[in-house]
Amino acid sequence: MPTGRCAVIMLATSFVLGACGNQLNSSLRGSEERVAIRLSVKESEHLRQGMQRYLASVQGIVEALHHNKRVAVSESAKNGGVGMLSGVPASVAVRLPPEFLMLSMDTHQKFDALSRSAAAGESKSQMLKQLGDILANCTACHAKYKLTPN
Ligand code: HEC
Repeated sequence: MPTGRCAVIMLATSFVLGACGNQLNSSLRGSEERVAIRLSVKESEHLRQGMQRYLASVQGIVEALHHNKRVAVSESAKNGGVGMLSGVPASVAVRLPPEFLMLSMDTHQKFDALSRSAAAGESKSQMLKQLGDILANCTACHAKYKLTPN
């Protein structure tokens, strides 16, 4: 192979590798640029407990779906529903960014919708679609916000 062509290939390769590297850097930078949610230590703890409950709810849903237990799917989904918000004081809610609150509310409502679907005998495929939409909310919020106790 002529040296010139070889150099072109090497250049192209380093360009592709460079581009990938940049993409990785920018996604890492992106995570550092997450919007800080500023809550007291106690309030942060409360939010983290809510997150653990979300995760337990997802686990319960997946296990119940696997065993085709609709009542259990419905109950697990209900655990992540709007009812979870009853313990959140208004004084905390007003300090959260509106977009964060909306995403949070939408996630709780999606859990309630899945709970209703399971109770109404929807197909497994439909319930998995709803679970996928819930998980997309988890991912979207985590990509955008971080917790900074103060
Ligand atoms: C409206 C925003 C929002 C949504 C929606 C959301 N989370 Fe979170 N979650 C957060 C924030 C903020 C943190 C704290 C991240 C950090 O460490 O800074 C967090 C942390 C967590 C943690 C770690 C908790 C700990 O003990 O440290 C888990 C687990 C978690 N989320 C699960 C979930 C699951 C599962 C879902 C979806 C069903 C979900 N979250 C949806 C905002 C959200």
